[in-house]
This record gives sequence, structure tokens and C-alpha cells, in this order.
Amino acid sequence: MRIGIISGNPKQDGLCQSIINAIKDGATKAGAEVDEIRLCDLDLKACQVCGDGWGMCARENRCSYGNDGFDDTLARIDQSNALVFASPVYWGEVSETLKIFLDRLRRCQYGPKGILRGKQTLIVASPGGSGNGLLSTLEQLDRFCRHTGATIFDYIGINRWNRDYKQVAAEAAAFAMASGRKNGDTV
Ligand SMILES: Cc1cc2nc3c(=O)[nH]c(=O)nc-3n(C[C@H](O)[C@H](O)[C@H](O)COP(=O)(O)O)c2cc1C
Repeated sequence: MRIGIISGNPKQDGLCQSIINAIKDGATKAGAEVDEIRLCDLDLKACQVCGDGWGMCARENRCSYGNDGFDDTLARIDQSNALVFASPVYWGEVSETLKIFLDRLRRCQYGPKGILRGKQTLIVASPGGSGNGLLSTLEQLDRFCRHTGATIFDYIGINRWNRDYKQVAAEAAAFAMASGRKNGDTV
């Protein structure tokens, strides 16, 4: 089992990274291999909205500008059996870096041959100061999963005043998913 963590977090520590680390611990304890993809370490372009708005991405499942690290990231996602999308909440949305990436990924992978289709996917958002914007961020990730056919395993929201027990929940969720549990299983 290989778990791909697609992270929109620019920081190496802090609240968002603490929950990513808890997820890594849970997956590792279940015997899974973890691939943390830190999108902020890449230099990804925004979607260029090629041609008449559809471009070649929908037809060919690839992006015209894929050599900026996008293609490599796609391959790592393809090689993962289950996924985690994790981001701090910025302006009630995922970070701009993750947003840019999701825009392109959705265009390339929304069809029946999409590489996310049916993959168990944990979605994670961490609002900081006010705690506002958690639901809109999880909803944004939910919509992305529905467009691409990724199966939502669970939703995790973490903030300053619930991080102790949400970290425990995040680790347990990653352990369960990495052990092969699926959305719809009864426990
Ligand atoms: C540009 C920007 C926008 C932000 N917008 C929100 C927001 O809408 N709601 C919120 O609760 N926190 C917001 N925050 C705080 C982050 O969500 C916070 O940094 C995040 O929880 C992660 O904590 P960490 O930075 O320690 O990982 C924002 C931070 C930045 C840098």
C-alpha cells in the first residue's frame, strides 16, 4: 500500500504540518509507504486555459505545460493506492499552490480514465486564526473529488483549539485507510 499525500502547505512545521505528520505516522504504523508531495517546493504554473477553453487536457489526459513538475506529480499520484489532500485554509479556500494544481489535475483527470477514480481519499484542512473557512475549504476539496471520481474516505478539520484530539483522529484515519478500509465498510 502506498499513500500519496498531496500537500498545499508551504511551511515545514506548524499546525497543518503537525496533522500531516500524524497522518504519516498512522499510515506507516499500518505498514504503508508514504509519499509526501510538497507542491510549494515545486514551481507550478497556473492553468493557461488553452484553445477554446477545453485545450488538449480533456482529450489526452495531460497538460501542455506538464514539464514544470506537473507530470512527475501526476505519476506519483498514479503510483499511490490511496490519497490525502491537505492544506492550510487561506481566505476560506485551499492554499493558492494547491488550487493551481487541482485546477490542472481536474482538467486532465475528470473523465472515465482518470487516475483518481475510485481511489480512497482523505481530505484535510487546517484553519488558523479565526477558524473560519473550514467548511468552504473542505467543500472545495469535496467538489474536486466528485469531479474526478476520487472516493472520499473522510474529512478532517483541525484548528488551534482541537488539535490534540484531531491529531489522534487523523492518525487513526490514516491507519484505517492504509490498512485497506474503504468508504462504506462497516466497522
Ligand atoms: C494568506 C492567509 C490567509 C488565511 N486565511 C485564513 C482563513 O480564512 N481562516 C482561518 O481560520 N485562518 C486563515 N489563515 C491562517 C492559516 O489557516 C493557518 O496558517 C493555518 O491554520 C495553518 O497553521 P500553520 O500555518 O501553523 O500550519 C490564513 C493564513 C494566511 C497566510
